[in-house]
Amino acid sequence: MQKDISHIRSFVIRQTRMSEYQRRSFDTLYQDYALSFGEELSTREQLLSAFPGCDRLVAEIGFGMGEATVELAEAFPHTAFLGIEVHKPGIGKLLGELRTRSILNVRVIREDAMVVFERMMAPEALDGVHLFFPDPWPKKRHHKRRLVRPGFSAMVGRALRPGAYAYLTTDVREYAEHMLEVIGTDDEFLENPSGGFCEPLSWRPRTAFERKGLARSHEIFEIFLKRRGETTD
Ligand SMILES: C[S@@+](CC[C@H](N)C(=O)[O-])C[C@H]1O[C@@H](n2cnc3c(N)ncnc32)[C@H](O)[C@@H]1O
Repeated sequence: MQKDISHIRSFVIRQTRMSEYQRRSFDTLYQDYALSFGEELSTREQLLSAFPGCDRLVAEIGFGMGEATVELAEAFPHTAFLGIEVHKPGIGKLLGELRTRSILNVRVIREDAMVVFERMMAPEALDGVHLFFPDPWPKKRHHKRRLVRPGFSAMVGRALRPGAYAYLTTDVREYAEHMLEVIGTDDEFLENPSGGFCEPLSWRPRTAFERKGLARSHEIFEIFLKRRGETTD
């Protein structure tokens, strides 16, 4: 029988030093940009109401330092971006950028994304999910910590509207192949129109981890999945 690994965390909280800028931004701005764990997420409409002027809703799991989040938010001002991250310095950095650039279409949840998706995300609330360069946990004994694990498609798929997308990237071939395998096996919600890896989408910004990978000549793997079912609008 397969062991239940749904409760195993995909991260460890590091005692990373925060820069003065990150700390100040976190302390002064978090309450302005944070969505609290609970009620607000119970319907798509309630969620969208936190982002005036937006009619599309995209969640980003593990935005790191948030560079890609900022670029996307500026490029798509009518899309609401819900960033889910546990790393406090990264959240501080993103908040500072949001304030400096007067970006209004990003909100942050400081929480384990798996908990957010399992316990609070409304069904069929999202138009897209981004999972860019998740921690690859390369050692075999750590594979169970990977975010993309059995149950991932159902967890994310339930939160997506029919026809919505999930965009996954990694610079680790073995994790990329593992992603395809996991999604291929629990494919009740998500389908892979290209059948494998795809070309990068022109609108996807480079992320900080991607740049590190490219500097080491790593190949980048892209997976673009669609939520099964007909689009309703
Ligand atoms: C390898 S970094 C990539 C960051 C960014 N996406 C990039 O490409 O530069 C992975 C990030 O995911 C975050 N993370 C890992 N598991 C998470 C979870 N369950 N919920 C929220 N964030 C998570 C980590 O804190 C880390 O910042």
